[in-house]
Amino acid sequence: MISIMLIAGNWKMNYGLKELYDFSNTFKSFEPSKDIDLCIIPPFPIIKEAKHILQETKINVGAQCCHYKLEGSFTGDVSPKLLSEIGCDYVITGHSERRSNHLETNAYVKNTVLSLINKNITPIICVGETQEEKRKGNTFNFIKKQVSESVPIINDALIVVAYEPIWAIGSGNIPSEEEIEKIHNLIREELNSIPYLKVIYGGSVNEKNCKEIFSIPSVEGALIGGASLNFKEFLAIYNSGVKYLNSFKR
Ligand code: PGA
Repeated sequence: MISIMLIAGNWKMNYGLKELYDFSNTFKSFEPSKDIDLCIIPPFPIIKEAKHILQETKINVGAQCCHYKLEGSFTGDVSPKLLSEIGCDYVITGHSERRSNHLETNAYVKNTVLSLINKNITPIICVGETQEEKRKGNTFNFIKKQVSESVPIINDALIVVAYEPIWAIGSGNIPSEEEIEKIHNLIREELNSIPYLKVIYGGSVNEKNCKEIFSIPSVEGALIGGASLNFKEFLAIYNSGVKYLNSFKR
């Protein structure tokens, strides 16, 4: 069954085994809600250990990127096949830091999504405009093109798209609720032939603003960088999501 929301913590190039054990301690008595999947996305070398120590918890583990080829002469790259073998649940593809530092193009992202689906791993596909595109009033067209070129139409597996305005990442600035709603609806319209689609928001999500972000109707979760490194804060964000969804049950 597909949950309603996904809350994922992207550790980026931070932390190692010590912090992984700290995380596991903080989440020792974690009670997962069936409505919200929780996922941590640590650096490659500790993914296998993360899967191992979290196996009883229902906490998912993801990777921050991968190649689209399953094997070959690609020094330093990691295959979706290997990630699937070690039990990886999610993989981010097309994060803006990968797009700008490692030439992950829209075509690369699309091919990666196809390989991930083939290996039963859920892709988290990042899209988002630069400050410059926003200034030019070009956000709508930019996102439309990025989505149509990066996301293949898949009808038998979950696809997660994360709207992450580049200017909001790590900056403490977030778009207005109306802006987020507008872009999420655009993504949904562009991909309306994908039956299992989740659109989540990323960019400076924290304990203070998460309640407001989760209450935007088109937001189905969050991809969290900085605030996910503070495990108590990450747990508080998760609990805020649970509280929000529970408010509809009364
Ligand atoms: P941030 O990062 O939460 O630190 O802004 C989000 C991301 O890059 O996915």
